[in-house]
Amino acid sequence: MKLLYDMHSHILPGVDDGAKSVEESLSLINRLTKCGVTDICLTPHFYTHKESLSDFLKRRNEAFDLLKSKVGDKVNLHLGAEVFVTKYLFSNEENLKSVCYDSTDYMLTEFSYSSTFSGETMNYISKLMNNHGIKPILAHVERYPYLMKHLDVLEELIYMGVMIQSNACSFTEFPLKIRLTKMLKNGYIQLIGSDAHSLTRNSPDAFSALSALEGKKIPKDVFDDINKNSKEIFM
Ligand SMILES: [Fe+2]
Repeated sequence: MKLLYDMHSHILPGVDDGAKSVEESLSLINRLTKCGVTDICLTPHFYTHKESLSDFLKRRNEAFDLLKSKVGDKVNLHLGAEVFVTKYLFSNEENLKSVCYDSTDYMLTEFSYSSTFSGETMNYISKLMNNHGIKPILAHVERYPYLMKHLDVLEELIYMGVMIQSNACSFTEFPLKIRLTKMLKNGYIQLIGSDAHSLTRNSPDAFSALSALEGKKIPKDVFDDINKNSKEIFM
């Protein structure tokens, strides 16, 4: 089965460094649906140290309303954010679930890429989980050299209940794709996203390339699990 869910994208028009216009958003959506994607998660960057939650939500929701009116029902759109977690996130009185996928408990999170997932970062993760009832999803695990080197730490995160996302385009980069394929087969990655910013930056076409590995380099049940994990977030 093809990969049906794109869990991470910068397709909302004019909100971050992704799509710049509704036209560009529509061509990205079109390209993803051609790859077999049925559900696209719109996850613009929310830099918590640069902008308040309410300002971000206002900009994001306006862009969503604009895009939604132009997209037919050929694809399901889900609204979220890629939340760069800093201490400022926790100074909000507002409900943090507003930046989770479709206001579920699942939040796409990003940390400093030099993090060793100890001390401060682990405090943030615990706070999100224990004080706010949020289930963090770690965006593009391959960007964290420490985690890629210390799979035992990654295992601990998964054991805690953190879900791990990887970018489809990273499976086209040698030698990274060899590492990631192994990690995917061994259960270290639960979700896939395009992280598409434009037709050329993290191209949506990588979804087709990754889906094409099914039954060749990646067993069918691995993709079935990825689709199931994604689907369950919205149930
Ligand atoms: Fe991203």
